[in-house]
Amino acid sequence: MQAVVLAGGLGTRLRPVTLTRPKPLLPVLNRPLVCRVMDLLPPQVDEVFVATGYMGDRLTEFFAREKGRRRVEVVVEKSPLGTGGALRNIRDRMKGRFFVLNGDVICSLDLRRMLRYHEQKGGLATISLWDIEDPTAYGMVVLDRDGRIVSFKEKPRREEVVSRAVNAGTYILEPDILGCMEPGREISIEREVFPSVLARGLFGFRFEGHWFDAGTLASYLRIHAFLLNDLRGGMGKGRDCNIPRTVAWSAPVLLGDRCSVGERSRLGPRCCLGDRVTLGRGSTVRDTVVHNGATIGDRVLLEQCLVGENARIDDDVLVPPGSIIGDGQQLELRP
Ligand code: GTP
Repeated sequence: MQAVVLAGGLGTRLRPVTLTRPKPLLPVLNRPLVCRVMDLLPPQVDEVFVATGYMGDRLTEFFAREKGRRRVEVVVEKSPLGTGGALRNIRDRMKGRFFVLNGDVICSLDLRRMLRYHEQKGGLATISLWDIEDPTAYGMVVLDRDGRIVSFKEKPRREEVVSRAVNAGTYILEPDILGCMEPGREISIEREVFPSVLARGLFGFRFEGHWFDAGTLASYLRIHAFLLNDLRGGMGKGRDCNIPRTVAWSAPVLLGDRCSVGERSRLGPRCCLGDRVTLGRGSTVRDTVVHNGATIGDRVLLEQCLVGENARIDDDVLVPPGSIIGDGQQLELRP
């Protein structure tokens, strides 16, 4: 069976780190997001298309090195085709029913169960659904008793809320749906295609457990907090780290390889450092993710931040909570 991972978005809400790296390659607990997304795929999937455009060469290079269990082909769009256009673009390659995964969703969906449900319902598409308290900021999906989708409503007003189900970004599609899209133009599958084919049978598949999309700093940190809580013993440390005894740990904390932490610094809770991260003396890192090769000086407090690859923060610099520091960016103390 085949699957498509949608990975061509600009990731504007995670700028500036997404100005130098595509969002699917950002690490989540020190492993690229796109790999964690693909972990969801069941064993019967033997071919995956990664549909991309923005910084597609970076994904092509990455998958050329990455040797996984299944065949992965990166398809680079010349201009952004949107979530529907990206699928239409590879219509000739699709051999039958296939999975579609948003490249930034981490969730507990069981795709084998969803496939059985899709087969049983026999619709043109099955859309995964996640129930949320307040769907007013999302696309609300309304179903009948049989699980058949009867309507969609983008960002409903409070008085219009009749369902808590929102599109969770994973689909099973019959190839016929690709025939409903014009080639060569930008199309949104959520906003244009699904509402236009309702009469042909779209079904919703609810699931429980967890669902996060890594689109914003807050949600990127929430994914880390969630996954860090699953760390055995609350601590994880790579090879060849240099951590003096005066460092205070507050679980959960994860460190990559060859990290170095200065005397009397404080790590955690919910601190994730990549490989080769250097932290000075008397600094604190909590609710924060630091990517590979970053250097943080003495007496720096990082709270609810994302620090990009090889960024440098000098001693005593005040970093506002909720900051994203770009790859290679340098924060110096102003005289
Ligand atoms: P923002 O710019 O911050 O909104 O992020 P985004 O560009 O990733 O947009 P959004 O979260 O709405 O995208 C949902 C999913 O669709 C993500 O996995 C994107 O990578 C993917 N996506 C969005 N637009 C395109 C596109 O034009 N082509 C392809 N192949 N994928 C897309």
